[in-house]
Amino acid sequence: MSGPGGLSDEPGERGAEPLLRGRGLTRTFTLPRRSPFQPGPVRHALVDADLDVGAGESVALIGESGSGKSTLVRLLLALDSPSAGSVTFDGRPVAPGRAAGLRWFRRQTGVVLQDPYSSLDPRMLVGDTVAEPLRHLGVPGDHPAMVGDVLERVGLARGDAERWPHELSGGQRQRVALARAVVHGPRLLVGDEPMSALDVTVRAQILGLLQELRDDLGLSLLLVSHDIGLVQHLADRVAVLRDGSIVEQGATDDVLRRPRHPYTRSLVAAVPTID
Ligand SMILES: Nc1ncnc2c1ncn2[C@@H]1O[C@H](COP(=O)(O)OP(=O)(O)OP(=O)(O)O)[C@@H](O)[C@H]1O
Ligand SMILES: [Mg+2]
Repeated sequence: MSGPGGLSDEPGERGAEPLLRGRGLTRTFTLPRRSPFQPGPVRHALVDADLDVGAGESVALIGESGSGKSTLVRLLLALDSPSAGSVTFDGRPVAPGRAAGLRWFRRQTGVVLQDPYSSLDPRMLVGDTVAEPLRHLGVPGDHPAMVGDVLERVGLARGDAERWPHELSGGQRQRVALARAVVHGPRLLVGDEPMSALDVTVRAQILGLLQELRDDLGLSLLLVSHDIGLVQHLADRVAVLRDGSIVEQGATDDVLRRPRHPYTRSLVAAVPTID
């Protein structure tokens, strides 16, 4: 733990217990064997990763394709089991397993994924898609009213509840996905490249919306993004992944302006301007 006034950005040294805490997270995959006489090769998708997200804090994960970002997100969300390591939320252990045992955790978290086309069920009306977490998680209250409120909050109309996903633009679909991710009042919103499938102007709108939701609802944010400009805009802290390891993490300005690791330098150098 940090001393008086400690401002360290290292995980575990921030004084109070973070909202979400991952320690020693490791995930290996055994690939299919190439010959019947040899075991399949082992792929280390993630090795010994420590990551915290504090209450109200925004944390970004960056790193090239295949570096382990989605693997880390899946472990932190208990969508996959670690080969080693642990996750706690608000000090309480989170272990993948029976859905009922994780309901408390699901109520505290919301997730938005990359592709707004595949993340919405084409056979479900928008209103039913958005209401689904309320039903699944047994959230009390007037669900249609809650759905109407959240649709307005993400810049859609209450009447859009009666529309089908195929009637919506990509940006509107991503708004629906966001509505669905926050309808049950989570404390942590997780996005795995939630904007990479959108064009530039829509991306700016969704970015603004994400900031608004975070600020109005007091959400913590964990965001995977290839977009360094977006990360700079949105994140308080950044963790840089390479080949399954976190090679550097710290305050966004420090990491992006004064990268310590050569790999981070090369990532940042690939961006035209950092302002
Ligand atoms: N189910 C799986 N079986 C085998 N290998 C896997 C599996 N899931 C992920 N991997 C491997 O783990 C490594 C990390 O993958 P991951 O999806 O976490 O990368 P990523 O950083 O999210 O990449 P991208 O930016 O392309 O989404 C990759 O080498 C990937 O091939
Ligand atoms: Mg990924």
